[in-house]
Amino acid sequence: TILILDFGSQYTQLIARRVRELNVYCEIHPFNKIPEITPWIKGVILSGSPFSVRDKNAPYPDLSQIRSKVPLLAVCYGAQYLAQTSGGEVMPSKIREYGRANLGFIDITNLLMKGLSQGSQVWMSHGDTILHKPDHFKVIASTADVDIAGFQVEGEPTWGIQFHPEVYHSTEGAVLLKNFIVGICGCHQDWTPASFIESTVAELKAQLGNDQVLLGLSGGVDSSVAAVLLHKAIGRNLHCIFVDNGLLRKDEFARVLDSYQHMGLNVKGVDAAERFLEALHGISEPEQKRKAIGKTFIDVFDHEAHLISDVKWLAQGTIYPDVIESVSVNGPSATIKSHHNVGGLPDYMKLKVVEPLKSLFKDEVRRVGTTLGIDPDILNRHPFPGPGLGIRILGEITREKIRILQEADAIFIDGLKSSGLYKEVWQAAVILLPVKSVGVMGDERTYEYVVALRAVGSTDGMTADWSHLPYDFLAKVSNDIINKVKGVNRVVYDISSKPPATIEWE
Ligand code: XMP
Repeated sequence: TILILDFGSQYTQLIARRVRELNVYCEIHPFNKIPEITPWIKGVILSGSPFSVRDKNAPYPDLSQIRSKVPLLAVCYGAQYLAQTSGGEVMPSKIREYGRANLGFIDITNLLMKGLSQGSQVWMSHGDTILHKPDHFKVIASTADVDIAGFQVEGEPTWGIQFHPEVYHSTEGAVLLKNFIVGICGCHQDWTPASFIESTVAELKAQLGNDQVLLGLSGGVDSSVAAVLLHKAIGRNLHCIFVDNGLLRKDEFARVLDSYQHMGLNVKGVDAAERFLEALHGISEPEQKRKAIGKTFIDVFDHEAHLISDVKWLAQGTIYPDVIESVSVNGPSATIKSHHNVGGLPDYMKLKVVEPLKSLFKDEVRRVGTTLGIDPDILNRHPFPGPGLGIRILGEITREKIRILQEADAIFIDGLKSSGLYKEVWQAAVILLPVKSVGVMGDERTYEYVVALRAVGSTDGMTADWSHLPYDFLAKVSNDIINKVKGVNRVVYDISSKPPATIEWE
């Protein structure tokens, strides 16, 4: 294992992903909660930070159980921290050092720099620079503007680098990280989807024994992969519940239920569409709709759970980004992100929670899913909100509006798939506006609904830009919707980014 100590950098998770891409397991821990350094930990990486080492409240962790005892690679802030606390001097840079730079000098005899090319492009992002190095720090890389772009502490397996090897623009960053992780730390590159599946299934068997486990399937990637892993471990002791809230995409309930059954899962499909519609009757305010949908879901799920006797565990598809303790930039205190699913279930269910994916990033969940043989249609699905089409019908929800939206949505999504654009887009949706407009079809005047198409590119849903879909494609989708979906006579395309807009309209 590689231990990554986080000082709050925006790139910390990227370091972890790069380590994992080398098939080596790693964990991120906040700098102020350093775990005990066991023989299991083969190396430590210090992340960058929004702090300056000269800030009054900057992170100053005690590294005495790490320095000289286990290989250490310090990135950016980490490197400055080592220099500053070992007798060097860190000062604000005279020129801004952000973006591309080239390593004009590289000591390729140094283990960390082996195989890098002279002039290698690296990515800088720092306001401070190491002005004077301690005598026992040996410079192993420089750029035109930064003399001390890389160093090794003499006689110690400790390195510091000012640039960010984890970002894509450091073109040989992966070589450097491999030098450290494999060459210097001696990690075996055997943490693969197959080995993850094997060890997780064994752990789940030991942990769960003959207990009954409950899991709510959503049709999405995480809950599906969690279900298949658990099924491999405990077979029919895993009871899956898939609720139709009547707000799923067209034919989605039947199709997804069918593919779950083909995977051999012990799954019960619950058609609760009427209950959700009743609960939503007369409500048009978005947050009230969310509450009504959430509450009805819990009632339905709870009822189904009680039909299964002797359930001891609730399984969830929580993934790593949901559980990483994040370092707050407003002070060196650590806060834990609350997981969006955990709060939703009534605590009187008193079930123990099992989360087999909680060490994986999303792309790793997909790779595990592929190795498990799960349908690529499920693994590559766009994110879909829990309240489903309920928050894409602006205002009050009726049966007729659900029908219109399902039909229009199916044309848009099928169109994206058949023209190869589905994978280019992070999320796509059709929004039914609470607006009617005048049109003309044949010789008749029409007065019908407007729908908006929404397609965005994003990596995590926090920020997003509208997708520049080809005009010809938009023209065809618009034409198909207006011709085939009764009740719609106008289609518009949403060209707002997030922020300031959001991805959904409610
Ligand atoms: P916004 O609209 O806030 O959405 O830009 C960001 C991401 O979150 C999804 N989303 C939800 N997911 N329950 C969910 O499970 C919700 O109430 C909800 N609201 C938005 C949205 O689809 C997008 O992927």
